[in-house]
Amino acid sequence: MAQFAAPFSDDFLLHYITTEDPAEAEKLFAAARKIRSRHYGEDVYFRGLIEFTNHCKNDCRYCGIRKSNGKVERYRLSPEEILHCCRIGDLLGYRTFVLQGGEDPWFTDERMAGILCAIRRNYPDHAITLSIGERSRESYEALFRAGADRYLLRHETANNGHYRKLHPPAMSLAERKQCLFTLREIGYQVGAGFMVGAPFQTPECLLEDLRFLEELRPHMVGIGPFIPQGDTPFAKYPGGSLQLTLRMVALTRLLLPKTLIPATTALGTISPDGRERGLMAGANVVMPNLSPRAVRKLYALYDNKICTGDEAAECRLCMEGRIRNSGFVPNMARGDSAMEAGAAPARI
Ligand code: 5AD
Ligand code: FES
Repeated sequence: MAQFAAPFSDDFLLHYITTEDPAEAEKLFAAARKIRSRHYGEDVYFRGLIEFTNHCKNDCRYCGIRKSNGKVERYRLSPEEILHCCRIGDLLGYRTFVLQGGEDPWFTDERMAGILCAIRRNYPDHAITLSIGERSRESYEALFRAGADRYLLRHETANNGHYRKLHPPAMSLAERKQCLFTLREIGYQVGAGFMVGAPFQTPECLLEDLRFLEELRPHMVGIGPFIPQGDTPFAKYPGGSLQLTLRMVALTRLLLPKTLIPATTALGTISPDGRERGLMAGANVVMPNLSPRAVRKLYALYDNKICTGDEAAECRLCMEGRIRNSGFVPNMARGDSAMEAGAAPARI
């Protein structure tokens, strides 16, 4: 397996990005599994996902909840409803809550801090992850002080030209990257990530994604296939392939052995066993849904999203079964990343 040792050349990475040979892909997955086992054993960590608002001031061309999509029925969970999701999650054994939403100005720093403090008070030992997009340094600092410890912000693509094709002119890759480095500096465990098979993506874009991850060294990396959403400008573009997404998961595992990689809902959406195959390609996290069933269908980033009709307890059990059946071990602990901590000032 000597060829799967760092440093990885551009030629090596491009070979595995582009290969159509199933035997080559299998070799890559086996190497990724071996590295994951070395650092995390066969454990797969659970995170409870709470999709608390589908209001968004942004207009990303791929995303179903973009502001120009007039067909979306918008919702916001109240702080009480969010806390109720946490209560159910805690009873189901979750020790990490992920609060995800569109970029919704209603959730000011004050309101977010209030929610975070309440969760912290009730669950002092749980990890709280935010995934609420780009905000100012001051805002990230305030939310960190209020109790958030992790932040997911996918970079989406590390190629400038490609970034511009996916986003409106008001957004920039430089700003996105700056947010990620700022979050890391503040002391958050940071998650970056990208979509596979997004319109206009080339193998070279994916190579840039991997090189950017090497530079940022995030604690988590979310990778999922692009899936068209019928009411967006990209409605007619083809979705990303399962195989390419799995190869990107495996390559990310080779480059960042200790990072946490979810087997994403999007993977499970394009193939019934997509999440299991993600685990077999080096992923080690799942993020079952804790959102109230009444709003799940409304958080439609892409079409045909799975688990929108299931109760939190069903997803919890379903994932446990899927993990065991694939030869892995469900782990409900906080599951902090084995990556080294960021250059972080102590929390004040
Ligand atoms: N297909 C797949 N993933 C998508 N996301 C947003 N829209 C889509 C889509 N159409 C992903 C983005 C975002 C994350 C929350 O969901 O990568 O960062
Ligand atoms: Fe939701 Fe399987 S994870 S039903």
